[in-house]
Amino acid sequence: MNTILLSLAINLFYGYTCFGLDNSIPSSALIYTKDTRIVSGTEATPGEFPWMAHLTIVRKGRERECGGSLISQNWILTAAHCVDRADSVTVVLGAHNLSAVSEPYRISLKSTEFHIHPKYSSETFPDDIGLIKLPVSVTLSARIRPVILADLGNRDHVNNTVVVSGWGYYSDAIQWTSDVLVKASTIVISNEKCQDSWGSMIVSTMICTSRTRGGVCNGDSGGPMIYLVDGSWIQIGITSFGASPCESVIPNGFTRVQSYLSWITSITGISYATTPWPTTQTNVFSCQNDGNKANPADCTTFYMCSNGTPYLFNCPSGLVFNLQLQNCDYRQNVLQCS
Ligand SMILES: *[C@@H]1O[C@H](CO)[C@@H](O)[C@H](O)[C@H]1NC(C)=O
Ligand SMILES: *[C@@H]1O[C@H](CO)[C@@H](O)[C@H](O)[C@H]1NC(C)=O
Repeated sequence: MNTILLSLAINLFYGYTCFGLDNSIPSSALIYTKDTRIVSGTEATPGEFPWMAHLTIVRKGRERECGGSLISQNWILTAAHCVDRADSVTVVLGAHNLSAVSEPYRISLKSTEFHIHPKYSSETFPDDIGLIKLPVSVTLSARIRPVILADLGNRDHVNNTVVVSGWGYYSDAIQWTSDVLVKASTIVISNEKCQDSWGSMIVSTMICTSRTRGGVCNGDSGGPMIYLVDGSWIQIGITSFGASPCESVIPNGFTRVQSYLSWITSITGISYATTPWPTTQTNVFSCQNDGNKANPADCTTFYMCSNGTPYLFNCPSGLVFNLQLQNCDYRQNVLQCS
């Protein structure tokens, strides 16, 4: 059973391989629904996910499409299989409808500097993480700003509601990438439960989602899975693989970002606050009530108070904490930090 399913695992980039609808898969897994599922998600509001990047990757003269996320003014996080042996990548930021001739905030940058995790192999699925260095520092705006990565300790996120987004296939019936950014919410399942479908290929550095709700499909690879912590979206996964067809109930597989923060730091130099979570931190910051609080010692970090316990977070590189917004913001909007 597991070996049959394993052979069906496909990386979810678009344009490089054929997406086989003719794979034989257990009929019990073939449940199609017409409900809103990024396989049948809903259109994002323009600007809702300002870190979202669309990637067109050229490798040996052929193009493929992926998603990615802006994590600083200079770096895009994506899946290793998206940029593996790439010649160049065109990164589009600030986009919503890629078919529109122009969009007011949309910019396009061509990069030839990629880093893939040293343990990644195109033959297997683990360590599917890569970074793209942008040729210039992008100017941040309401439509182009980095997503937060954070050390959330040993949380497995089981049963947490998360959001995935991308310009990938809308459904198995419509085998064409979406022109507008689409989102879907879904639920994290335990790795043990994920192994029921995928077997031993599921390792601790992956995170899976149930397919009873939204899911990802070809073209969504490399895009972010985000999780809302007290009003801040934190990226916890990178779209990596799924079953074919996308609308099967077999779980989707993601790279667990938490497992790779030190690798990201080693390449980008961006440091992430390490706050053990959950744990009690005392005498660091006094939490009178819950919510995000400025760190009196440092503009680029903030405390999130939850049940009286403070957790330290870094703002995405280039941003500082804005007390009014209770969130990270551009430096010029926060007088005391500019
Ligand atoms: C995207 O833009 C194209 C070109 O302007 C337009 O034809 C299409 O309807 C738009 N898509 C959506 C979903 O708005
Ligand atoms: C997740 O939800 C399922 C179904 O509601 C429940 O049985 C399980 O105990 C929950 N697991 C965790 C870790 O919360």
